[in-house]
Amino acid sequence: MDAAAMKDEVARAALAHVEPGMRLGIGTGSTAEAFIRVLAPKVREGMRIVGVPTSERTAKLCAELGVPLATLEDLPELDLTIDGADEVDPRLRLVKGGGGALLREKIVAAASSRMLVIADRTKKVEHLGAFPLPIEVNGFGLLSTTLAIERAGTMLGLTGPIQLRMAGDKPFITDGGHLVIDASFGLIPDPEALSAALHAIPGVVEHGLFLGLATSVLLAGPDGIERLGAA
Ligand code: A5P
Repeated sequence: MDAAAMKDEVARAALAHVEPGMRLGIGTGSTAEAFIRVLAPKVREGMRIVGVPTSERTAKLCAELGVPLATLEDLPELDLTIDGADEVDPRLRLVKGGGGALLREKIVAAASSRMLVIADRTKKVEHLGAFPLPIEVNGFGLLSTTLAIERAGTMLGLTGPIQLRMAGDKPFITDGGHLVIDASFGLIPDPEALSAALHAIPGVVEHGLFLGLATSVLLAGPDGIERLGAA
């Protein structure tokens, strides 16, 4: 089974968790897009849901496919968020932000009663950190913030390249108008300690460690769907 087929399969499995009337956080990335593509026909058939998108890119696709949208201002509390991930550990801790939407993804997930993560099985890891950690930062004081991130890592025994994310020859800009630093710290033994250390840096807007947010995970593999966490 190729990657696209696995995304489609896990997107279809996620659909079973969507109930009429739900206020739904809708994630960003290729797996979340596969979910939007299977959700849209259900909406056309009459399923009543309202989605809150986690990025402009997701909002655009939902609008194109006729998935009704609201903002978090309209719906500040959501029933379920369905989103992808870059890494998932056995305690359902995640690394997210490979697509640069981590801030809105985290705000939407935190506003939701439940978060269902959909991914293929390659995203399952024993320890987070092989995927560079995306950190959304304010453009003001970029160098100071970068050095502070480096120092925070060093205090925790984490070292490795820390790079400003680029889009061609210009810095990548998030939907919130911020920059992204990708920190290749390698394996992160204590994600909670790193999270706290990063949150203590004023120029850090948010980081891609999602801790205590995911309530269940569906992982597609060649032999079917594996579920982690609550049903
Ligand atoms: C977007 O910012 C990310 O958090 C995505 O959810 C993550 O990168 C997974 O994307 P894919 O589904 O494309 O692998």
